[in-house]
Amino acid sequence: MNDVFGPATLGPLALSSRVIKAATYEGMSPHGVASAELVQLHERLARGGVGLTTVAYCAVDPRGRTFPHQLLLDERSMPVLSELTRRVHDAGGKASLQLGHAGFFSKMRGPDGRGPRGPSFAFNAYGVSAGLPFARAMDDADIDGVIEAFGRAADKAVQIGFDAVEVHLGHGYLLSQFLSPATNRRNDRWGGDAERRRALPLAVLARVRRAVGRDHAVLAKTNLADGFAGGLELDEAVEIARVIEASGDVDLLVPSGGFTSKTPFFLLRGGLPLTKMAAAQSDVIARVSMRALGGIIIDRYDFEEAFFRPLALRLRGALHMPLALLGGLVSRREMVRAREDGFDFVVLGRALLADPDLVVRMRAGTLERSRCDACNECVAEMDLGGVRCVLDGPRPSTRST
Ligand SMILES: Cc1cc2nc3c(=O)[nH]c(=O)nc-3n(C[C@H](O)[C@H](O)[C@H](O)COP(=O)(O)O)c2cc1C
Repeated sequence: MNDVFGPATLGPLALSSRVIKAATYEGMSPHGVASAELVQLHERLARGGVGLTTVAYCAVDPRGRTFPHQLLLDERSMPVLSELTRRVHDAGGKASLQLGHAGFFSKMRGPDGRGPRGPSFAFNAYGVSAGLPFARAMDDADIDGVIEAFGRAADKAVQIGFDAVEVHLGHGYLLSQFLSPATNRRNDRWGGDAERRRALPLAVLARVRRAVGRDHAVLAKTNLADGFAGGLELDEAVEIARVIEASGDVDLLVPSGGFTSKTPFFLLRGGLPLTKMAAAQSDVIARVSMRALGGIIIDRYDFEEAFFRPLALRLRGALHMPLALLGGLVSRREMVRAREDGFDFVVLGRALLADPDLVVRMRAGTLERSRCDACNECVAEMDLGGVRCVLDGPRPSTRST
C-alpha cells in the first residue's frame, strides 16, 4: 500500500498525508513562553508535507513541568501558539498540542512552594540537584486537580486553533506513572490492581474529549512497555489499549515505550551523547553526575529501523481502532510496510528533525531514506538553544534560554 504520502482522515480531520510529526521537545519556550522559533519550526514541517505536526510537551499546570522551560498555556504563550496554528494551516497542515504532567519526575516546586507529587511516595533522582529528592503521593484533591487541568488545557488548545491534542500517557510521566505497577503502589480507587491503575488516565481522556468535543481529534501516546523489570509489560499495555478503544474517547493511539526516569533511551535507541548531554545540564551537580554516572545508569539500546514494530503488531492484532506506528521510521520502505501491516499513520521524530521536507521529497520520489543516523545529539541540542539536527553543521548563532 503506497498511500502514506497521500490524504487521510484522522477522526474529524482531513490530513494531507499519513505522516505525523512526533512530539520532540523543542527547547523553544524559554520560561514556558512560546517563541517565534517554535512557530517557524512547525510552519516548516507543515510546508514539508507532514499531515499533522505535534507541538511537544505542554504542561497542563505549572507543577506539571519537569523543568522551567517547558511550554505553559498562559496568556503570554497563547497568542504565539495561535499564530503557530494559523501558519501551519496556511502551509496546508494541521497542528496538535501534546499535553502532559510530569508527576514525580520534576525539579520544580509548584506556585505554592510544594514539591512534585506522583501516584506513590518516590525517590526522585532527577530532583536531587534541585533539593527535591523525594516526591509524595497525590491525594484525591491533587488527582481531581490533574483531571481538571487536562480538561482546561485541552479547551484552551482548541480555542487558540489547534486541530488536535495528544494526551501523554507514556514515557514515565504522571499518567504513565499511574499505569505502571512499579510506580503506582496505591490501594484506593486510583491503584491496587490493573483496572484501578488505569482509572486516572481514562478519566483524563474522558475529560479531554468532553473539552474538545467531536470537531477536534484526540490522540493518546501510550507505552507498549516501560522497558524495565517490574514495569508495565505488553500484555497489560494491550489491555489498556482495548479499554481506551472501548471508551470511544480517542481517535488515534500512538504506541511508544520507555520511562524517562529509568530507561530514557528505550524510546530512542542509538547513540548516547553523554558529554554533550552533561554540558546541557543547567546546574553543576547535574552536570557532574551525568558525566560521572551517565554511562553506568543510562542503558544503551541498539538502533533498528521500526524498533517498536514487533510489539506494536500485537496491538494491531488486538484492536480495530486507528493505530500509528512510531519509533525508528527513517525509510520509505518501512513506512510503506507499516501501512501494509495495517497501521493507519506513521509518526516520525528524528527523521523529520533531520529532513523537515521528507514527505515532499518522498512523495516526489527523490528521497528513499532520511539522513538521520540516530546519533541522538538532537536530544542534547534541545537544551543548548533549541532542538536541531547536528548534520546541519554548527549552530548559526547562540541563543540563551
Ligand atoms: C529531541 C527529542 C525530544 C523528544 N521530546 C519528546 C516529548 O516532548 N514528548 C514525547 O512524547 N516524546 C518526545 N520524544 C520522543 C519522540 O516523540 C519519539 O517517540 C522518539 O523520538 C522515537 O521516534 P523516532 O525514532 O521517529 O525519533 C523526543 C525525542 C527526541 C529525539
